[in-house]
Amino acid sequence: MKILENISLAKYTTFKIGGNARFFCVVTSEDELVEAVKFAKEKNTDGHALPFLVLGGGSNMLVSDKGFNGLVIKMEMKNTVINDEDSIMSSSAGELWDSLVECSVNNGLYGLENLSAIPGTVGAAPVQNIGAYGAEVSQTLLDVRSLDTKSMTFVNFSNKDCKFGYRDSIFKHERDSKTGQPRYIITAVAFQLTRKGVLKMDYKDVKEYFEKNHVTGPTLSDLRKAIVEIRESKLPDWKVWGTAGSFFKNPSVPAAQFAELKNKFPDLPGFPENDGSVKVSLGYVLDKVCDAKGLMMGNVGTYDKQALVLIAKSGATAAEVYSLVDELKRRVKEKTGIVIEAEVDMIG
Ligand code: EPU
Repeated sequence: MKILENISLAKYTTFKIGGNARFFCVVTSEDELVEAVKFAKEKNTDGHALPFLVLGGGSNMLVSDKGFNGLVIKMEMKNTVINDEDSIMSSSAGELWDSLVECSVNNGLYGLENLSAIPGTVGAAPVQNIGAYGAEVSQTLLDVRSLDTKSMTFVNFSNKDCKFGYRDSIFKHERDSKTGQPRYIITAVAFQLTRKGVLKMDYKDVKEYFEKNHVTGPTLSDLRKAIVEIRESKLPDWKVWGTAGSFFKNPSVPAAQFAELKNKFPDLPGFPENDGSVKVSLGYVLDKVCDAKGLMMGNVGTYDKQALVLIAKSGATAAEVYSLVDELKRRVKEKTGIVIEAEVDMIG
């Protein structure tokens, strides 16, 4: 495994923004991952271990213009195994997420199809519990294998151990108390799928797609095709724009606050949650309440078909994105009183 120096991170993220990584390496096995983490631990400057950043597809992060003053570990371990008898699919962290979904659908295994065409890697999927069109990784995930960077041993997490929430899991929060670094690095994930699944078609966009295309009794592959086409029609082309998909989380507000908002904005979509709060569609708020759909500020803006998605032209800087983010936060706070939070990881 080679450790490179001063590598531009712009080409490793889908935002296509970001300065250099001080050190950079590609790992293709668990042994190489251990070697990389040891390098960071040993290369300490003034008593502090070098920080490390685990990179999958770079599709959910915004790297600062300064870059990352540490070791970037690019996960490239690839291997997928299907256990036919019990419908379990296991995959290494560096596999492309959508290759796994495609493989599951081609093999008649139900469970991941609504998560089709999400960019990124398998190892990143549990970290933020990726979700779309009525499905979340947490619904089918069986277990996760990871490197505990504190003890330098490999440990397994059951689904319950992962403490999944909306775009959330234990992997976002558990940190080494000494270094402040994320403690666990995911190396493989297993999914419990099924051959006798029921298609999830309740999501508004999915229902509308099948009605419009006069598809009755869709199959597993039809649903994957539908999701791919819906995403293509709503989300920017990654080859043209820099983007990390939805930039903010959909916020949750107390039921009383939602009722007040609904009075002012009767069409505001909201989804009641188990704890009594209501999840608000921020895309709607940015679009219809804040008039921010298609807003451009310099080289960055909100996508003209989905206001929750930020886009960047070639040559855009992270500083420009921060300004846009501040402006959107300000407008939402002013119009609704809601404080919004980024979904994308801000690095450096
Ligand atoms: N809406 C508008 N205007 C907009 C955007 C949305 O009026 O500009 C309305 C829509 O009409 C709809 C509601 O807002 O009534 C919600 O929009 P949508 O169904 O597109 O979903 P979302 O909440 O904006 C979430 C995920 C997406 C995921 C979609 C589909 C988050 C942060 N985002 O978006 O995930 O693809 O649902 O399930 O939860 C991502 O994480 O990067 C991502 C793209």
